[in-house]
Amino acid sequence: MRVLTVVGARPQFVKCAVVSRALRKKHSEVLIHTGQHYDDAMSALFFRQLGIPEADENLGVSGGKHGEMTGRMMEKLELSALRHQPDWVLVYGDTNSTMAAALVGAKLHIPVAHVEAGLRSFNRRMPEEINRVVTDHVSTLLLCPTQNAVDLLEKEGITKGVVLTGDVMLDSVQDNAARAEQQIDLDRLLASLRFPHQSYAFATLHRAENTDDPTRLASILEGLGKTNLPVLLPLHPRTKKILETKPKLVPPNVHIVEPIGYLELLRVAARAKLILTDSGGLQKEAMFLGVHCVTLRDETEWIETLEAGANVLAGADADRIAAAARAALSGRPFPKSTAFGDGKAAEKIVAALEK
Ligand code: UD1
Repeated sequence: MRVLTVVGARPQFVKCAVVSRALRKKHSEVLIHTGQHYDDAMSALFFRQLGIPEADENLGVSGGKHGEMTGRMMEKLELSALRHQPDWVLVYGDTNSTMAAALVGAKLHIPVAHVEAGLRSFNRRMPEEINRVVTDHVSTLLLCPTQNAVDLLEKEGITKGVVLTGDVMLDSVQDNAARAEQQIDLDRLLASLRFPHQSYAFATLHRAENTDDPTRLASILEGLGKTNLPVLLPLHPRTKKILETKPKLVPPNVHIVEPIGYLELLRVAARAKLILTDSGGLQKEAMFLGVHCVTLRDETEWIETLEAGANVLAGADADRIAAAARAALSGRPFPKSTAFGDGKAAEKIVAALEK
């Protein structure tokens, strides 16, 4: 079996690392990097830390408007797919790279397999929601992380080719949390980030719906300022570019650093008193690490984290964020949940491709 895997953005590198490893035990994989994320800290560092094989092709497509980026990716991906004649096109998540590759596979009549199928925020203003819906509807194999994802697909009339695998991000946290603890000296890391605190909150912020809306962005930062804890905020380039023009928005307890690696993130997040984020992945990583999360969005695709008592939605309102943070800090530990599977999702994905 020959699988053409397409990745392009940071969260996809984490997911493909575990699946590629399982896949390459018996099959051949052609790995294509669209180039959507290109900084060392957003891309190459993840390949190094997670032992992802070097990409066979890097298409060098990044930046620009959505149509432009997606179109340029499709043009190049079509040539790659024709050249490699794979049995499958394998895509992850909800980025422009995901949708571009899914459309190319479907139009060439190459079966498309979608890891993280069936997620919905029901907010069509998010580019990610459009990418998910389109990708799911042109995929042959829909690899769902949760039962809720399976049920949501059924509501849209998709029942064929749907497989419940569990979440590959759980595989990844299970594989790497101990490694992060052994390899990363936390005190030294925090000192190198000029953030020498034992008791702190960890935050990330990059969703266009937050960063591109000046009112929401200002209000979220005000909320982080009211958490009564030092907040470590590694900044995605999207947010960094915006904040460079508005430095006064950053409260004194919020410490901004460059994006950090995956192992560093696991280490720093595991020790945080609290996580505040608009990332999809970090909501789950917080839960897997046993840390309460406050989500800086009005909705989440990962409702299982809410049901488990591990996460609350606070939107972009400063007082709501502060209140949610206070409640989470005094909250009791939440029980372990099996909603995301057993950490063996990668093997199940490979088995589904084989079948
Ligand atoms: C993308 C995904 C989002 C995912 C996120 C993870 C889409 C529509 N969005 O958003 O679903 O959660 O990745 O991080 O695909 N930039 C750099 N350096 C980089 C990468 C990007 O400076 O390495 C800049 C780009 O030039 C652009 C901005 O950051 O101006 C945003 O990048 P883009 O790839 O459009 O989307 P993300 O915000 O990263």
